[in-house]
Amino acid sequence: MSEIEKGRILKINVLRFDPNDPSNLPHMQTFEIEEAYGMTLYIVLNMIREHHDNSLMFDFVCRAGICGSCSMLVNGRPTLACRTLTSKLGQNITLAPLPLFKLIKDLSIYTGEWMRGLNERLETWIHDKEQELHIDKLEERMEPALADEIYELDRCIECGCCVAGCGTIQMRPNFVGAVGLNKIARYHLDPRDKRGDEDYYELIGDEDGVFGCMTLLGCEDVCPKDLPLQSKIAYLRRMMVKTALNN
Ligand code: SF4
Ligand code: F3S
Ligand code: FES
Repeated sequence: MSEIEKGRILKINVLRFDPNDPSNLPHMQTFEIEEAYGMTLYIVLNMIREHHDNSLMFDFVCRAGICGSCSMLVNGRPTLACRTLTSKLGQNITLAPLPLFKLIKDLSIYTGEWMRGLNERLETWIHDKEQELHIDKLEERMEPALADEIYELDRCIECGCCVAGCGTIQMRPNFVGAVGLNKIARYHLDPRDKRGDEDYYELIGDEDGVFGCMTLLGCEDVCPKDLPLQSKIAYLRRMMVKTALNN
């Protein structure tokens, strides 16, 4: 009989903190949960809330690695809790909220505010003057291979794992991170976006953009969607250098 079938007793250590309660200090709380086959951290956290402490806060929406809301530090590594099987972890599991984002309470963070600011700053939408002026025209044909490449980058779920896993952001708080650079690579590839290389240079041609990246590689290591972040950052760097040399 395997260890899982016998049901390990998991020790779940959770960092608890309510920043809105002045009397509350950050502290660890440990819960014991009997492991079941196929158990994920989503199930574990719900069992804790149902049977041990209904004040525990955490976020889940899709439970399928799509919405990006359940990102947290699992044994110090940024990841999606809903896609994390307890069978892949030891008996002691430590959960903490992702750093850098606004803490709501316990494991619940507000990535939306950070991501919205990033999207507004990088203007992550199609820029096409004719479309803005409502000039009727057919959408240009796109090669399927290019559409696939754009779709691949569009799979980002804004979970924030790459932000939490990047040391550069600790030093440069305005650094756009791999998530921001991935978005710029996506729009630069898209022929419907009429911004030129100079426009993109304005957006990310500095140390808060592509030249701030120190190739620490944590982003690609932790991205739950396995996005090709490194190759896209290298692609943007080449594009930026070419643009700078041409000016
Ligand atoms: Fe999450 Fe990956 Fe998108 Fe970063 S690039 S926000 S890790 S899905
Ligand atoms: Fe950070 Fe990834 Fe660059 S971890 S420094 S964005 S390679
Ligand atoms: Fe949606 Fe985990 S609950 S990604």
